[in-house]
Amino acid sequence: MDKIRVITVDGPSGSGKGTLALRVAETLGWRFLDSGAIYRVLGLMVERAGIISVDRIGEIVDMASNMPLSFRQGKTLLEEEDVSDAIRTETAGNAASKVAAIPDVRRALLDWQQGYAKSPGLVADGRDMGTVVFPAAEVKIFLTASAEERALRRYKQLKGKGLGVNLARLTKEIRERDERDSNRSVAPLQAPQSALQLDSTMLTIDEVFQRVMQKVYLTLPDLLG
Ligand code: DC
Repeated sequence: MDKIRVITVDGPSGSGKGTLALRVAETLGWRFLDSGAIYRVLGLMVERAGIISVDRIGEIVDMASNMPLSFRQGKTLLEEEDVSDAIRTETAGNAASKVAAIPDVRRALLDWQQGYAKSPGLVADGRDMGTVVFPAAEVKIFLTASAEERALRRYKQLKGKGLGVNLARLTKEIRERDERDSNRSVAPLQAPQSALQLDSTMLTIDEVFQRVMQKVYLTLPDLLG
């Protein structure tokens, strides 16, 4: 069987890693995994069931183990319901960050994520793709940006969708989420060893993309054909 190649893109919310990872996957004709969407779907399920509480961890882990989740044609489906928009709210993001801090939840989702890698390759976007889920990935990217810049990007994105948002509150929430994602006991957000680290605060998405593709082709020259 052909070796499945993996490129990981990790970093905090709003660093631009999702856009970057998708573009790299499309360029190479590889699969794309948005692992944050998995945690967001679980956050949504937990929120809908009203069980976001530490003493109900068993139920949350059961949900994680039996998630009727699929990605189809760019859409995120929970059974047959298209939840692509519902999981993008700040509430779903915050619920995701909370369930993602539960070690058994992360363990329950590991096989699902690793099984998503199919030949010829996968580009995986998240927080622990290069450190925990795909430690043998051939190319690892760690993309950051200042909290202010990330909040501003999110603000413009939400405003563009016609949603009422408050920049100061967004900045505060992004800081809180960073804190939780970086300081949790399992798989905290951290740069994998050997990762190409890029700060996108002053870079356009095109500039980030060029630097990443340069690294990809230098590491995997056979992809140039
Ligand atoms: O990338 P995102 O904003 O869609 O992720 C939502 C939340 O899910 C984020 O606060 C942390 C969590 N997450 C995680 O813990 N591990 C991942 N691989 C991806 C996301």
